[in-house]
Amino acid sequence: MSTHADSKPWTVPALRQAKQAGRKLVMLTCYDYGFARTVDAAGVDIVLIGDSLGMVVQGHDSTLPVSLEDMVYHTRIVARGLERALLVSDLSFQSDATPERALDAATQLLQAGAEMVKLEGAGHKLDVIKFLSERDIPVCSHLGLTPQSVLSFGGYKVQGREDAAAEKLLADATAVANAGASLLVLECVPSALAARITAAVEIPTIGIGAGPDCDGQVLVLHDLLGLEMGHRRPKFVKDFLAEGGSVGGAVRAYAQAVRDGSFPDAAHSY
Ligand code: KIV
Repeated sequence: MSTHADSKPWTVPALRQAKQAGRKLVMLTCYDYGFARTVDAAGVDIVLIGDSLGMVVQGHDSTLPVSLEDMVYHTRIVARGLERALLVSDLSFQSDATPERALDAATQLLQAGAEMVKLEGAGHKLDVIKFLSERDIPVCSHLGLTPQSVLSFGGYKVQGREDAAAEKLLADATAVANAGASLLVLECVPSALAARITAAVEIPTIGIGAGPDCDGQVLVLHDLLGLEMGHRRPKFVKDFLAEGGSVGGAVRAYAQAVRDGSFPDAAHSY
């Protein structure tokens, strides 16, 4: 099913229309101009400049060292390569610690070419989401395994397995949507919980390790291309290069698999 002409640039309102129409959203990370051109031409709907760039581009072991300056630089160079995909950029660690700091950081990202900013967590971030969205800055929330919380979590672990944690995640998802978020990334949560959240909120959910029932999927580009990153590959990662035969082919294979519902399957879900 398609509600969005293939050649038409994506807009924030079109994302919600896609959910209403049951059209799966394809999101992928990207960090530079050349790959931006390739993933845009391959039909990706949403490009995310993730602070995962700290790990896959800069070689750190977490996203914490990534600066706002880094995010602005990568946003600027990716934006030049996109014609159709909606561009979302991560707010770097603590650049969203207060509404005022987040407004300044998000303004810099939008002025560099982003069309939405992503921020992790609920709690005190609800004020930040409300503050930004009331000022016409579209926000993507990120819940579940939020990598900027790795020190508090004690590692990269599946979230929401126990009943109380699942109920808290469901409540947080509803709260970020009510605060004004336009999109919600769910990372590393059991499939059944992601399905409940997806049914409960009107904004589209984008899963990564969150099962097949989200409104869309996101992967890190380097994982989709099977690059060796020096750490254990998470269960939800699939190397699409083998079946795709080229970078563009791998991205097209991923997009097709998300749209026809064959990715993620049970082997790539929790
Ligand atoms: O930084 C990132 O790439 C992300 C995705 C894993 C969702 O946040």
